[in-house]
Amino acid sequence: MRILVSGATGFVGSTITRHLLAAGHTVRAMSRSAAQARVVLAAAEQGRAALADGRLEFSEADVTEAATLVEAVKEVEAVIQAAQFTGAPVEDPKRGLTYMDVDCKGTMNLLAAVAEVYETPTAGPAMSRYPEGAPHFLYVSGVSVSADGREPWDRAKWRAEEAIRGSGLDWTIVRGCWAYGAQDAALNRIIGYSDRLPFVPVFGAGQDKLTPVFVEDIGRLFVLVVENPARAADTTFVLGGPDVVTLNEFLGLALKAMGRRRPVLHIPKALGKFQGALLQHMPGRPLSPDAVDFVSQGGAATEADRQLLAERFPGFRATSLQDGLESYLRPLP
Ligand SMILES: NC(=O)c1ccc[n+]([C@@H]2O[C@H](COP(=O)([O-])OP(=O)(O)OC[C@H]3O[C@@H](n4cnc5c(N)ncnc54)[C@H](OP(=O)(O)O)[C@@H]3O)[C@@H](O)[C@H]2O)c1
Repeated sequence: MRILVSGATGFVGSTITRHLLAAGHTVRAMSRSAAQARVVLAAAEQGRAALADGRLEFSEADVTEAATLVEAVKEVEAVIQAAQFTGAPVEDPKRGLTYMDVDCKGTMNLLAAVAEVYETPTAGPAMSRYPEGAPHFLYVSGVSVSADGREPWDRAKWRAEEAIRGSGLDWTIVRGCWAYGAQDAALNRIIGYSDRLPFVPVFGAGQDKLTPVFVEDIGRLFVLVVENPARAADTTFVLGGPDVVTLNEFLGLALKAMGRRRPVLHIPKALGKFQGALLQHMPGRPLSPDAVDFVSQGGAATEADRQLLAERFPGFRATSLQDGLESYLRPLP
């Protein structure tokens, strides 16, 4: 199959791309810079092999510029939307780097490009389905997204989800829990503080429940969804790992895998937000008050979420935290 991956250079999108290539599919990797995408994806063995045999294509496009997307969506059997704004979770409204501009409107632009290229279904509240041949639309959403979500990311992603559900395409939404892996920017940053500090800092008490998911599991699930559309069509899944932990426990396990012991220093969220209010005006916007909320939020898959996945994909098993962490974190000599 030929699959368009939007956000193919990102943490989640590049992992999905790698797994699709390993499964023998052709990926059209979308990025704002095809040259950069080539470098990023050729860093993995699967990318190099697919470049050599012509299964890795590039599409230079920007989800905020609708006209650039039309070529990207032509002649694909699936579209996977895994793009999010640069600098997330610190928004920069003046530069259009927000959940609403990129995650939400970008998704709507992709849907509009599909509508332009494939036969548009009858408009109206009960849109008719697209004819056969239109791509299956898959979206990487977040665990906290819901109709009554109040945070900017929840509102934007809910609207994106609703646009997908009402598009008339076959769709699948996977709401991912906190994803970790060798290339992640969140867990690695926190535990990275242990290189130079006798503690690791976190905002808040770190007591909310999480079911962190190994990013390779996201890649594996997307391959299953793409290859078995009937089992996943018009379904919203929540994908978490099998272990329910607090952030404090998650950090403890990650540090243990690195052979380190460090206490967690809890920075009150109010203090973090005060820092964020100042730092959001500094070059590079290292922090904002909303970002403090984002990084300290909980989010766990439920038993019902696990059951739905098990029913549709009985062979799929999410990786335990210990196995996931130990696959790439090693005790340093
Ligand atoms: N990371 C997690 O823990 C996690 C958990 C659950 C859900 N998710 C969801 O997974 C998705 C991807 O997250 P991530 O962590 O992989 O993000 P990421 O590493 O920051 O990657 C973002 C991707 O978006 C692309 N992008 C940014 N702006 C774009 C634009 N205007 N047009 C086209 N592409 C654009 C970037 O490509 P270029 O720079 O090459 O253009 C990059 O490939 C997000 O929707 C996120 O909410 C992530």
